[in-house]
Amino acid sequence: MDYKKYIKSIMDFPTKGINFRDITSLLEEGPVYHSAIDELAEFAKSKQAEIIVGPEARGFVIGGPLAYSLSIGFVPVRKPGKLPREIATVSYEKEYGVDTLCMHKDSIKPGQRVLVTDDLLATGGTIEATINLVKQLGGVIAGVAFLIELTDLDGARLLKEYDVLSLIKY
Ligand code: PRP
Ligand code: ADE
Repeated sequence: MDYKKYIKSIMDFPTKGINFRDITSLLEEGPVYHSAIDELAEFAKSKQAEIIVGPEARGFVIGGPLAYSLSIGFVPVRKPGKLPREIATVSYEKEYGVDTLCMHKDSIKPGQRVLVTDDLLATGGTIEATINLVKQLGGVIAGVAFLIELTDLDGARLLKEYDVLSLIKY
């Protein structure tokens, strides 16, 4: 399917110079959203994924339905102060300053095959931090899946050792 035509591009959002690729227009189209999740689910199945991990917030609208479709678990990656049990954390450089992501320490079993997903790959900082968290907990990266990859930012350079699927590329 030509998913790209369902993505709206908004220039200078949220700041000047950013061409924002808006997935909400795709999510509004039920059959298109369904088809995109089905394609990502086929990929996850082919990699024998046993659990899905996705970062807040937009990673949840991909990872949740993906896990449901495969009848496997979903593990949220969250900003500090949101998860109630014991957590593992990783800090990473953003364009301005440092950010931290967290996962429940007991959410992944050692050796478990993990499909990591998010709506969009830009610089790769978010997905790299998420992968590092999964590895810290002993998970094996079965694959990495996105709806959108912004190729000019070359986040894929950080994912060379993994099987990666992006449904839309800009
Ligand atoms: C966006 C997007 C990815 C991340 C990609 O999330 O959903 O998670 O940026 O950028 P990167 O590859 O440069 O790390 P954002 O931080 O805007 O948060 P949101 O999902 O809560 O909107
Ligand atoms: N996250 C990081 N860069 C983005 C972009 N250009 N569009 C939408 N989400 C983003």
